[in-house]
Amino acid sequence: MNILDIGVDIIEINRIKEAIETNPRFLDKMFTENEIAYFNKRGLKHETIAGNFAAKEAISKSIGTGIRNFNFKDIEILRNEIGKPIVKTYNNLTQICIDYNVIDIKVSISHCKEYAVANAIAIVKE
Ligand SMILES: CC(C)(COP(=O)(O)OP(=O)(O)OC[C@H]1O[C@@H](n2cnc3c(N)ncnc32)[C@H](O)[C@@H]1OP(=O)(O)O)[C@@H](O)C(=O)NCCC(=O)NCCS
Repeated sequence: MNILDIGVDIIEINRIKEAIETNPRFLDKMFTENEIAYFNKRGLKHETIAGNFAAKEAISKSIGTGIRNFNFKDIEILRNEIGKPIVKTYNNLTQICIDYNVIDIKVSISHCKEYAVANAIAIVKE
């Protein structure tokens, strides 16, 4: 297993709460339908949404580009049956992963009262 790079991000949960409250399109702009369905299932908890947001920025750093040449909805973070985050890519980000030989992206999310944090590892072909 070879690693392209790692990425980390931290966000104030309150910033996500404010974005949701002030911009009715925020969720639709940043998250896929599957992610929004998952958030609804979790009672739209701000820490869960903030965790997914931080995970997307962490992933963009693990690729080494930041959110550039793809958009937030090209990354989808769901959970497996026991709660572990699972990453899927779409559109331009899928092409970028092919170009960079990225075969998998791992992500880990945590949150406390005020902050959500995520880190990511982009794994490339040997
Ligand atoms: C890179 C990016 C994800 C950083 O996120 P942020 O929430 O603004 O800032 P953070 O505090 O989390 O991270 C900043 C750190 O990310 C790191 N970083 C910057 N560019 C990076 C890149 N291309 N790859 C990996 N890490 C990067 C740096 O270490 C930086 O800290 P430093 O400048 O003190 O060294 C974000 O700025 C980004 O995507 N930029 C790209 C293009 C852009 O501006 N798009 C508009 C977004 S809507």
